[in-house]
Amino acid sequence: MSASPQRHAVFGHPINHSLSPAIHRRFGQQTGIELRYDAIDAPPETFAAQLDAFRRDGGGGANVTLPLKTLAFERCAQVSDYAARTGVVNTLEPLPGGGWRGHNTDGPGLIADLAERHGQDLRERDLLLLGAGGAAQGVAFALLDAGVRSLTIANRNAERADALADRIGEPGRVHVRYWNDLRNAGSWDFIINATSAGVQGEAVDLPFAIVATRALCYDLSYGRAATAFLAWSRAAGAAHVFDGLGMLVEQAAEAFAIWHGRRPDTDAAHDELRAKLDGA
Ligand code: ATR
Repeated sequence: MSASPQRHAVFGHPINHSLSPAIHRRFGQQTGIELRYDAIDAPPETFAAQLDAFRRDGGGGANVTLPLKTLAFERCAQVSDYAARTGVVNTLEPLPGGGWRGHNTDGPGLIADLAERHGQDLRERDLLLLGAGGAAQGVAFALLDAGVRSLTIANRNAERADALADRIGEPGRVHVRYWNDLRNAGSWDFIINATSAGVQGEAVDLPFAIVATRALCYDLSYGRAATAFLAWSRAAGAAHVFDGLGMLVEQAAEAFAIWHGRRPDTDAAHDELRAKLDGA
């Protein structure tokens, strides 16, 4: 008789288009670990109660996505060093005596995608980070750890950009630019879109001049949400244009490793999802 499968879930709102269940099931098959992974729609008001109920019903490790990553951080009895720096949590590890240890695997996932899948060396790059919300917070520290020479944060709401720069606390390497001043701010060879504009079906309103000739442009989202920024990047002449599907698969692999002690190979899951997205 085999033990009942380990129960996992991703909490978010909305959640119906999440690819996380498919990715984790694929990892489970690949590693021979029997698991169940559900997508749970959880508005912020009821997230805490839903998370408690999930645990009571035998739930184990969980992922958390928009708009719950800051709330998840606040629910944790312990957090990893990286999550403590970011203030946002996307992976919950059940503690043996109850309660959760929070992790943020988005930053490491982005670095793994850039370095291993796309062969990018981040050292000595000057990076422009668009956005200063939870997504930007989750990756900014990992980009600095990976050795970028400078990180410039631009956000429509300048106070949020200042708050993120203050949180990072590296004034020598981290700068803030007003969104409306980007027109006269020079160009960058590495631009990451961490705004939620595409998710909301909006385009980012930016001048082509910020994109340097050999630039790499990366959108943290994927599928339809990334289309507008990636089209804008190509039109501006970027040499390399990537969406965040690879980051999604890599952050899932990091979470899987935290829960199961083994990091699955990510290429097969990535290639399958890419084929599905391209065919959609
Ligand atoms: P997330 O967790 O996805 O980062 P968030 O914390 O709500 O979500 O942050 C959304 C980010 O996208 C913010 O940086 C927001 O800019 P403001 O702080 O100025 O609102 C940015 N954003 C959303 N829509 C945008 C748009 N149309 N143009 C530019 N930035 C946008």
